[in-house]
Amino acid sequence: MVRHFLRDDDLTPEEQARILNLADQLKKDRFAARPLEGPRVVAILFDKPTLRTQTSFAVGIAELGGHPMVVDARLAQVGVRESIADTARVLGRQVAAIVWRTYGQERIEEMAAHAGVPVVNALTDQFHPCQVLADLQTIREHKGRLAGLRFCYLGDGANNMAHSYLLGGALAGMHVRIGTPEGYDPDPAVVARATEIAATTGGSIEVLRDPHRAVADADVVSTDTWVSMGLEDEASEREQRFVPYAVTEEMLAEADSDAIVLHCLPAYRGKEIAAEVIDGPRSVVWDEAENRLHAQKALLTWLLEQSEAEVTRP
Ligand code: NVA
Repeated sequence: MVRHFLRDDDLTPEEQARILNLADQLKKDRFAARPLEGPRVVAILFDKPTLRTQTSFAVGIAELGGHPMVVDARLAQVGVRESIADTARVLGRQVAAIVWRTYGQERIEEMAAHAGVPVVNALTDQFHPCQVLADLQTIREHKGRLAGLRFCYLGDGANNMAHSYLLGGALAGMHVRIGTPEGYDPDPAVVARATEIAATTGGSIEVLRDPHRAVADADVVSTDTWVSMGLEDEASEREQRFVPYAVTEEMLAEADSDAIVLHCLPAYRGKEIAAEVIDGPRSVVWDEAENRLHAQKALLTWLLEQSEAEVTRP
């Protein structure tokens, strides 16, 4: 079976741990794995803006011995000029894997259904699983473990980061608390799935209105922009609603005294996170940004290894 990474729970807890171990190994020895030697080509497409995702995939694919082919999404117009299924069939005949940042999750599912090669979600409206792999690698580096840690995310509970933290955190056995205002709750189906996973890994899931309860004694505190890409029209309303959920120094003081702070970036200082926090001693955001590279290299290596013998042609 060709394996894809469309959402965090496409991996089992064991598979997630294996990929994180490989990510650590590749961080120590960047050229230890060369599964794309040839070079084999990986297509990367972005329907939304990007900095870290494009650079970390491009560098990572090159370091794995391959060639990153950034397809200009404005020219390709996937789903407009040509159907997603036809695009998948064409790319799948030429490349070793497809990395795509797009809007609805159903779009990337359609790509995966027809590609015949591994498809990786480089962010959709619903999930950002590559970021959460990097976040888990970062947390483990700083805390020495994942299972049993108290993880708090404050802000937009319905966005891609919140959903991926729910699933990815549950797989890792963490106690995930989301602090979010009414109207911004995570998708109930994702909460139900995360709760089901947490029951098997010793983790737990809570969605709370009160940001102070969510942050209390947390080992890890994370946030994200209040205005995700595509929601710019809602900016002024969101910037008012989320103020009580900002990660300020006062808020952080309610977490564990050794708590670390994550942010997937880009960050808006003075909005979801105070400058003193993101630029302060508890912030590990630059390690987190670097780990996109190592985590995604490990992911691609693993996906190719799993799918290699099985590549099918639609
Ligand atoms: N929730 C943010 C993540 C950015 C990496 C967005 O979708 O814009």
